[in-house]
Amino acid sequence: MKKFGFITVFVGLMLLLAACGGDDASGGSGDEVAKDALIGVAMPTKSSQRWVDDGNNMVEQLEALGFETDLQYAEDDVDTQVEQIENMIVKGADVLVIASIDGTALTNVLEEAAAQDIPVIAYDRLIMESEHVTYYATFDNFKVGVLQASYLEEALDLPNEEGPFNMELFAGSPDDNNAYFFWDGAMSVLEPYIDEGKLVVQSGQTNFEQGATMRWDGNTAKSRMENILSSAYSGDEKVDAVLSPYDGISRGVIQALKGVGYGSDDLPLPIISGQDAELASIKSIIAGEQTQTVFKDTRDLAASAVEMTEAVLRGEEAEVNDTESYDNGVTVVPTFLVEPVSVDIDNYQEIVIDSGYYSEDELE
Ligand code: GAL
Repeated sequence: MKKFGFITVFVGLMLLLAACGGDDASGGSGDEVAKDALIGVAMPTKSSQRWVDDGNNMVEQLEALGFETDLQYAEDDVDTQVEQIENMIVKGADVLVIASIDGTALTNVLEEAAAQDIPVIAYDRLIMESEHVTYYATFDNFKVGVLQASYLEEALDLPNEEGPFNMELFAGSPDDNNAYFFWDGAMSVLEPYIDEGKLVVQSGQTNFEQGATMRWDGNTAKSRMENILSSAYSGDEKVDAVLSPYDGISRGVIQALKGVGYGSDDLPLPIISGQDAELASIKSIIAGEQTQTVFKDTRDLAASAVEMTEAVLRGEEAEVNDTESYDNGVTVVPTFLVEPVSVDIDNYQEIVIDSGYYSEDELE
């Protein structure tokens, strides 16, 4: 017992020393790297609330470590984003953290960054066709699609019900690599049911290109849904479910559905998935319109990107958990994947309110 006590104290002391040493080291070099370090953060658009949260989280966490930040939004205009990144390079940014608009449009500007030895961290969306992407911080994008489709599968009880059920399929923006991962994840669940005839896509639009929604635009999705409703559902057929990859698209689709009378006792809205747990969609879930969303905690994503930023500034390696999935056409980018969580009426309170992501007031 005595011996055990001694060992415990000894080990405890060692741990304490190690912790202090670690703190000193990280505190010391943290201050060192923070001195003068300017981090450019390029975000796609303010029109979607999640990117506003992402930008705020990044700035908050970087400034807490003493870094200077230059946060820019490009309102989904590719040329504007390229210009913003060029400006960051001119201003002497030490690291660039970029959530791209068009993942394939940054090859040249990343050459300029590389010429100045500026490391680049791809944020949420992979930057394609460039060898100059040091790290990638994102969520498990394939899993997001699996969560959306599994929710629809369960809600329709596809393994047990005979169906057939009508489902329409929406995909994300074709210039965003994530959109393919969401689609592939969802199709890994839905395709067998479509092949078997238990799920019927009345529009006949079953491939990614047909379902794609340029720039994730809700109005584009609304128009597509309106066209589908008038051309494929003019008789007695009704839509039972909609695969939507993103909350903005879900809300556009819901508007189209309500426009032709869905949302009443006789014609309830279909089950509809989403992503990002945007405030407007959590409200929609509470109101019984949108059915599901996928919560991606942008605080955790920012923490991962910030950790990568510190690591590259110190010339150290950052923590990654995927070195295989994210091939940008030139190189496989070392990636840290954060876990996404499925949210509906039953768990929104726990996942987005109790976690402090939103306050009760914001939902009123
Ligand atoms: C994707 C992102 C999604 C969603 C979408 C539209 O790249 O991973 O979470 O935000 O863009 O903004």
